[in-house]
Amino acid sequence: MNSKILVTGANGQLGNEIRRLCKNFPGLEFIFTDVDMLDITNPDAVSVFMEASKPAIVVNCAAYTNVDGAEDNIKMARKVNALAPQVLAAACAMQNAFLIHISTDYVFDGESNIPYVEDDVTNPISVYGSSKLEGEEKIKTVFDDYLIIRTSWMYSEYGHNFMRTILSLGREKDKIEVVNDQFGSPTYARDLANCIIDIIIKSILNPQAYLPGIYHYANQGSCSWYEFAREIFKIAGITNCEIVPVTSDKYPAKAKRPKFTVLDTSKVRESFGIGIPNWRDSLKECLSSIIE
Ligand SMILES: NC(=O)c1ccc[n+]([C@@H]2O[C@H](COP(=O)([O-])OP(=O)(O)OC[C@H]3O[C@@H](n4cnc5c(N)ncnc54)[C@H](OP(=O)(O)O)[C@@H]3O)[C@@H](O)[C@H]2O)c1
Repeated sequence: MNSKILVTGANGQLGNEIRRLCKNFPGLEFIFTDVDMLDITNPDAVSVFMEASKPAIVVNCAAYTNVDGAEDNIKMARKVNALAPQVLAAACAMQNAFLIHISTDYVFDGESNIPYVEDDVTNPISVYGSSKLEGEEKIKTVFDDYLIIRTSWMYSEYGHNFMRTILSLGREKDKIEVVNDQFGSPTYARDLANCIIDIIIKSILNPQAYLPGIYHYANQGSCSWYEFAREIFKIAGITNCEIVPVTSDKYPAKAKRPKFTVLDTSKVRESFGIGIPNWRDSLKECLSSIIE
């Protein structure tokens, strides 16, 4: 197997982190694309690109990630999150390539209070969650050479995310309100990027340890959005903005959010011998690179 890796949606949070890390792996050859270079919703473009570049592995970081926007743009959310993964899977099957696809904790309804394992019943409560679940299901109908990694509450120094929003609000306002009744695990995109490269090296490029399937990856530990915001302020040294905990019904959003989406990560840790940092340590690391 060659070691050529095609990354789609590479200008997003996760794609950028893989781009940053790839310099540490000169033995792997990466091709980074985003929508302007390779629109994954265009089957002809995908098949031409795959045939010309012949990657051994495709890492699909592309997605429609606007959770509220998806409620009004159902067609677009389905096109990018459900139909395009099927297109990529079909192109991978044609080229004998392996597909690593990223999915979400929002495939669950959040009615549990025990961390979700991979086999738990899915029941999305938003268009975004449904479109991502459909993407998972469509990949499974095409072939078995896939790894679907569900992750949660992702942040990084790139793009739009909760951490960056809270940092700016903390610098602009005297007081902010943050919901305290939704629980999950904040996940640093760089940790997930590291995990993906680790899995590529340990499993996909090593047929002896070939372990396709669905996996959960999130930083260890959990919190509410309010606790996450408090920790951001604490680490960033923001002291002149008060954070007030509120319930979700005070902030009705377009899309319903699950109340509890902590993911059980035992399977990925045990299958690939991967250590996962605690969310507070990773947040510190991310914020220190921003503050520097
Ligand atoms: N962010 C989270 O909190 C979170 C949580 C759980 C799971 N996930 C999943 O993790 C993965 C990565 O998320 P992320 O936060 O890195 O996403 P992101 O920052 O929104 O990046 C997604 C990238 O995909 C690109 N894209 C959109 N449509 C495309 C198309 N048709 N063809 C090619 N590229 C396209 C986007 O370009 P434009 O910006 O130009 O549209 C963007 O660069 C996604 O599968 C997401 O569903 C994310």
